Amino acid sequence: MPDAGKLRLGVNIDHVATVRNARGGAYPDPLRAAKLAEEAGADGITAHLREDRRHISDADIDGLMDVLTVPLNFEMAATDEMQRIALRHRPHAVCIVPEKREEKTTEGGLEVAREENRLAHFIAPLREAGCRVSIFIAADMRQIEAAHRIGAQVIELHTGAYCDAHAEGRFDDRDAELERMREMSALAHSLGLEVHAGHGLTYETVKPVAAFPEVMELNIGHFLIGEAIFRGLTPAIAEMRRLMDEARA
Ligand code: PXP
Repeated sequence: MPDAGKLRLGVNIDHVATVRNARGGAYPDPLRAAKLAEEAGADGITAHLREDRRHISDADIDGLMDVLTVPLNFEMAATDEMQRIALRHRPHAVCIVPEKREEKTTEGGLEVAREENRLAHFIAPLREAGCRVSIFIAADMRQIEAAHRIGAQVIELHTGAYCDAHAEGRFDDRDAELERMREMSALAHSLGLEVHAGHGLTYETVKPVAAFPEVMELNIGHFLIGEAIFRGLTPAIAEMRRLMDEARA
């Protein structure tokens, strides 16, 4: 069994940049949010440099690499441009996500099984550069086995379907998705993959996922940045941390 005590919280700061970019200036600064998150107990910072730069900018990534004392989890699509940027910075972790220009957020997991060859070649230099490579996927056996075959060290399970079902009151679907994630966490762990999870998690949905003993890290952004409006970023993170620890106890 994995070390069930240790569950890391990665705080995703993309949407601090979304608010900043709404006015085109420098405020609020995602780097300031990242440092505050660090002080509030975040174990890592996650940022997604999208192809269209709709939130995080190249300068934000430069700044995060300079100022962070906790690891940066750099989310990116599997493109040559992003690979060049990652190889220049060599962040602690790189999380490969699917990206579509028209989507509001990362809507589904990466299709690894159909792109095994290309992705195996794509991640090899990132691994050689010392980055831990994580693949963002749905709780699907085919995708997990493919992620293992291409040499990824980590999978991040997409919790969006579970969270959407909860928010829409489709509790049977929610519970079925939770069960799928539970089984797939165990499968991934048995293959030697480290398991992370994230997307759409809130105070209401975090605990059942945090309770999976194989899950070592949760990456949470939109809800925490939203909640920061009402109670401030530090208390918002502290409450998430408390719920995660409670679920794990
Ligand atoms: N993990 C991954 C791989 C993501 O793409 C995202 C969203 O950028 C998150 C976690 C965080 O999702 P949310 O902002 O909904 O908490």
